[in-house]
Amino acid sequence: MTIAEFQEKGEAALKACLLEVDAVSNLDDLNVFKGRHLGKKSALTGFYQMMRSVDPAERKEFGILLSRLKDKIEAVYAKKASEIEAKLLSEKMARKKVDITLPGFYPLAGAIHPYQKVVREITDFFVGLGFDIADGPEVESDENNFAKMNIPMDHPARDMQDSFSIAEGVVLRSHTSAVQARVMAAMKGKAPIKVICPGKVYRRDNDATHSHQFGQIEGLVISRDATFANLIEILTKLLRHLFGEKRAVRFRPSFFPFTEPSIEADISCFECDGKGCSFCKHTGWIEILGAGMVHPNVLRLNGYDAEELQGFAFGLGIDRIAMLKYGIDDIKRLYADEADFLAQFRKE
Ligand code: PHE
Repeated sequence: MTIAEFQEKGEAALKACLLEVDAVSNLDDLNVFKGRHLGKKSALTGFYQMMRSVDPAERKEFGILLSRLKDKIEAVYAKKASEIEAKLLSEKMARKKVDITLPGFYPLAGAIHPYQKVVREITDFFVGLGFDIADGPEVESDENNFAKMNIPMDHPARDMQDSFSIAEGVVLRSHTSAVQARVMAAMKGKAPIKVICPGKVYRRDNDATHSHQFGQIEGLVISRDATFANLIEILTKLLRHLFGEKRAVRFRPSFFPFTEPSIEADISCFECDGKGCSFCKHTGWIEILGAGMVHPNVLRLNGYDAEELQGFAFGLGIDRIAMLKYGIDDIKRLYADEADFLAQFRKE
């Protein structure tokens, strides 16, 4: 083949290539196109095979022209291939449309359990007044739970707290007052004592406001001059801290074997502001806690000098306060793993 012949045929091959390329619109077409213009049976490959029959004097120029033709055809192919690739990609993007204005996924934040919120609020209050925090076991000796709290064996006062017996002389503590005995034993007759003891207690009880397991916070102060007035002051401040400064606080005489005199504290009903409604059983008041001056027998039974020292104690129910504060209708909700119920406390 002569250069002139090649130029003519080369032009024709390129022209055919350019003519056909417009019709190529997908990957299949592209493969066919590639085979036809760059494959084994293409005109281009044919020209390479003809190199041998070219006059050696023209061979170099032929080679240059041929390689230029090859570059052109390959460029046509490459341009088309990238067009098709871009087209496929944009089709894929259109199918998988992402709406970036949609809200994202938030990781589920936990919440402080309402029971624990109350514990924290009350312990913060007392720590601020300089109280220590004491602890005791839930499986407790009959001795600490009853006898050392001035409730002798067979005393009818034991019926006030129907307890679970674990073994001879061992119970699930029925109140955190048992920790009073432990604190006094640890302090060996020394004063002052200023502690609170939060913890779980157990009684044979079961209805919407009572559970076999619930929480109490005990308070115990022993010193030479801890007075009834101090007790009233602290409890009034505590109840207003928990339920709002507007609440009226009322103290009624009561009975506990370990305190004398004993009192119970009420707050004015926050539903009706003391007018009387179904929430406060039309009394205008809501009962909150028990307290009193430490009974001299309790001081003596726990190795304290009842002539020199005196004190006061109080006990409040954590669950009851949580239910009142957050309007919880059933105590069991505090112990069931109800995600929807607990989620309500997330933002507070
Ligand atoms: N322990 C009492 C109860 O569980 C509460 C209380 C504690 C009363 C301390 C007076 C003093 O009912």
